Amino acid sequence: MTQTPRSHGRKSIAASLKPRDLMEETRLARAWTAQVITLFPQAFPGVLGESLTGKALKEGIWQLETVDLRDFGEGKHRNVDDTPAGGGAGMVLRPDVMGRVIDHALGRNPGPLVYLSPRGRRFDQQMARDWATLPGVTLICGRFEGLDQRVLDHYRIAEVSLGDFVLTGGEIAAQAMLDATVRLLPGVLGNADSTAEESHSDGLLEHPQYTRPAEWKGLPIPDVLMSGHHGEIAKWRRRMAEDLTRQRRPDLWSAYKGRTDGKS
Ligand SMILES: C[S@@+](CC[C@H](N)C(=O)[O-])C[C@H]1O[C@@H](n2cnc3c(N)ncnc32)[C@H](O)[C@@H]1O
Repeated sequence: MTQTPRSHGRKSIAASLKPRDLMEETRLARAWTAQVITLFPQAFPGVLGESLTGKALKEGIWQLETVDLRDFGEGKHRNVDDTPAGGGAGMVLRPDVMGRVIDHALGRNPGPLVYLSPRGRRFDQQMARDWATLPGVTLICGRFEGLDQRVLDHYRIAEVSLGDFVLTGGEIAAQAMLDATVRLLPGVLGNADSTAEESHSDGLLEHPQYTRPAEWKGLPIPDVLMSGHHGEIAKWRRRMAEDLTRQRRPDLWSAYKGRTDGKS
């Protein structure tokens, strides 16, 4: 049985260390860690290995470890699932197998244990912000009909959903949630301001964005954005963000108004 988790990105440290390397080692030891329990470790890092999250992974700002559920399976064929008690369609991930993999994972990562599940609390920007302040997180990707309930109860595992739809497995949800979290870690985005004004950062959707050419298919960029007047541009962007939020997301708009009314 190979129970060595696969890690992605920089993690190994050379035996002889110079002062600069030692700083590097401390940084890596403290790197935010995502541990992912999955039947498909080859699906990682997937899109997380690209662009800014991929660069941050290589630089050791965060680290990713996959734990292959199959390694903890039963018997010659490493079975991980069985038919649902009481009958019905599909298969259920076995509690003994899940218990072994979870015990293994709990010893490796101090972060919270989360089961990706359409029944869970809906993931949002605030949850990404909260996760980014922790040492890391361990995500369990379900497959088939999901986990035996006793595992969830025994380990008091939080269930988190990507949205109100059903995926085939938790891997895509894991990558989406990790992407949203990792980009909030210090040093991942080039421009720290870029998270300050984007959608969901302060309860509003983002204003429209434009770039060159100044005219495209007869459509100009709004004059104010070409005026060079920073105060007017900021006011216009705020107004557009508020209009968009009011039109598209009345739920966000009333929460925002509840927070800001009386403040100005
Ligand atoms: C086919 S789904 C199981 C759905 C489950 N039988 C139900 O009805 O709630 C298989 C796995 O995909 C993952 N999954 C599916 N939809 C998800 C969502 N919206 N958010 C997070 N994970 C999801 C979960 O890990 C789940 O165990």
